[in-house]
Amino acid sequence: MRLQVIDHPLVAHKLTVLREKKTPSPVFRQLVDELMTLLAYEATRDINVETIEIETPVAKTTGTALTDPPPIVVPILRAGLGMLAGMQSILPTAEVGFLGMKRDEKTLEAITYANRLPDDLANRQCYVLDPMLATGHTLIASIDYLLERGAKDVTAICLLGAPEGLAALEEHIGDRANVTVVVAAVDEKLDENAYIVPGLGDAGDRLYGVI
Ligand code: URA
Repeated sequence: MRLQVIDHPLVAHKLTVLREKKTPSPVFRQLVDELMTLLAYEATRDINVETIEIETPVAKTTGTALTDPPPIVVPILRAGLGMLAGMQSILPTAEVGFLGMKRDEKTLEAITYANRLPDDLANRQCYVLDPMLATGHTLIASIDYLLERGAKDVTAICLLGAPEGLAALEEHIGDRANVTVVVAAVDEKLDENAYIVPGLGDAGDRLYGVI
């Protein structure tokens, strides 16, 4: 597994406003959108491309095009949905699949409650969107799901990661698959309820309200 922490002053600034508990939901959503475009830009550095021939109004030349089939973006419901628009703004041709996962608050294990993805992901590049990499259980279950269906490589894009979750992911994935985790920051630790410290609270609640 490869970890990429995006070290950029704009990312750090937007993340700081996100963390602030007084930041209201509409601003929070807007910032997640903006942060996502910055993270997605970095996360897609290894996206599959091919050289094609084109003709400008002046001359024939060669250029670069995304390969077919396009990558699949997989937001993990519900909080990952808040990251989708930012991802689509720089990768509009990607297909979008959905995985609904929540954590059992007692065992902290991931439970899948919704799934809208092709069964065959052979040779597809997948981008998983999940803002908070806390225990890592959700991401491990999602990445396993994609790899089992043949995904070629998987990049998880998260706003924040906890050292505990990153270690769990590293132990689970190791070198057996081509998996990259892109985060805006790695925080200190998890608290007793598996919330990231200092974190930003419950990302789903802050995006969509407490329901
Ligand atoms: N999920 C969240 O939304 N926040 C955390 O801190 C951990 C998991």
